[in-house]
Amino acid sequence: GLWVRNLRLKRRLPGPFAWPVVGNAMQLGQMPHITFAKLAEKYGNVYQIRLGCSDVVVLNGDRAIRQALIQHSREFAGRPNFLSFQYVSGGKSMTFTSYSQEWKMHRKIAQSTIRAFSSANSQTKKAFECQIAAEAKELVEQFLKLGAQGHYFNPAHELTVAAANVICALCFGKRYGHDDAEFRALLQRVNDFGQTVGAGSLVDVMPWLQSFPNPVRSVFRNFKDLNKEFFKFVQGKVEEHRKTFDPQVTRDMSDAIIGVIEETKSEKGLAKDYAEGTVADLIGAGLDTVSTALDWILLLLVKHPDIQMTLHRLVDKVVGPNRLPSVEDRGRLAYLDAFIYETMRFSSFVPVTIPHSTTSDVTIEGLRIPKDTVVFINQWSINHDPLKWKHPQIFDPSRFLDENGSLDKDLTNNVMIFSAGKRRCIGDQIAKVEIFLFFAILLQQCHFEKCPDEDLSLNCSYGLTLRPLDFKITAKPRHETL
Ligand code: HEM
Repeated sequence: GLWVRNLRLKRRLPGPFAWPVVGNAMQLGQMPHITFAKLAEKYGNVYQIRLGCSDVVVLNGDRAIRQALIQHSREFAGRPNFLSFQYVSGGKSMTFTSYSQEWKMHRKIAQSTIRAFSSANSQTKKAFECQIAAEAKELVEQFLKLGAQGHYFNPAHELTVAAANVICALCFGKRYGHDDAEFRALLQRVNDFGQTVGAGSLVDVMPWLQSFPNPVRSVFRNFKDLNKEFFKFVQGKVEEHRKTFDPQVTRDMSDAIIGVIEETKSEKGLAKDYAEGTVADLIGAGLDTVSTALDWILLLLVKHPDIQMTLHRLVDKVVGPNRLPSVEDRGRLAYLDAFIYETMRFSSFVPVTIPHSTTSDVTIEGLRIPKDTVVFINQWSINHDPLKWKHPQIFDPSRFLDENGSLDKDLTNNVMIFSAGKRRCIGDQIAKVEIFLFFAILLQQCHFEKCPDEDLSLNCSYGLTLRPLDFKITAKPRHETL
């Protein structure tokens, strides 16, 4: 009876045949998002695969994904109770925890803290932008130093330090030098985070892999250690803030979070140690994502020197050499924003969101998905849908400009990289400001060129983010530095 019932349950959704024990794990390949899109051609935009001991529903394409995340936002707002998620942010993560009353409160606190330090009023807006500009100037200096005498270098690590400094300055009121060895080492370690929490990672669906030596086990051990190390760093900073806390003066995001969580002692409030978890979440989320975006931007810039020249001319015309670009220039620098949107669409560098799970039974495109099913959201499939985009495999920023040369908002809204619905990224606005300003200032100050024996294949490594493989560029100054 049970066997037949299970068989019927499994039949409900289309999908490929699943092997015993591993299911479809061995079929995911190096780039699971592309495999998922191929399977959608055969089984439709909503189908089921099996990974180890977990049934996973994969959602592809604009219609199915928006129907799930927006029309059925509550039903798709959960996270699976994966083992690896418990190691993030000292087990007090908001990002890697399922849908609950507590999560809602936690997310609100994180959201309003970000707003308070980035866009709450014109003064905080200005302060936030100034701080990014200062960081961008520092980055320009580093790049010009590394590129002196025509030397070639990989920009990834300096980009990570720059992005880390922006979020550390917001959270702790403190930035770190590009040659601070301890800070660089910490960031280098945290770099591997996305290997384990990206969709298709295997330790959570095949827990038995932990019981004998194999590559998955060593990646997982490394994941546990790096989370511990990173959390210890954040804990130390938050503890310092607690010791010197003054309710009259909010120095930074850590103070604000401590203030909300610990000073407002309402009955249903969050426990005290959630402050560390919240700060760790914000720093962690702002590291890899923003730096990966900038890494792709530099790669595509040197791959398309004609576009770089157009961008240089535009920045020279709109901004000139005597002041730094600012957010106010944005309207007149539409082609820059078009380049950023095209980079996000083309690379889809967060190809699949953090895994979701269903909070109750739900029907999508006529197919019933039971409660507590793991769900993968394939953002890449939206950004590369040939019915939506002309020649999706071609990099062409001008696709986002209308006949007046302005940004086509309907089209930019079709790019999905920050997800949608209840789990949508809460750092999207600050990320966009950061990326725009860094890009504009780098363009104003530097000319970038690829290494002659570099083929710029655009090959990348898969994880929560897609990262370009090591490539080398050089940077030359365009003006006397400001
Ligand atoms: C979640 C993208 C930058 C904070 C997410 C998710 C994506 C994403 C795809 C998962 C959504 C889902 O599971 O459906 C990005 C991209 C960024 C970026 C592409 C940069 C270009 C940031 C920054 C911050 C941030 C700078 C904060 C300072 C968060 C948080 C979550 C999240 C807290 C978890 C939300 C939740 O689970 O409720 N982001 N992100 N992100 N992001 Fe971002």
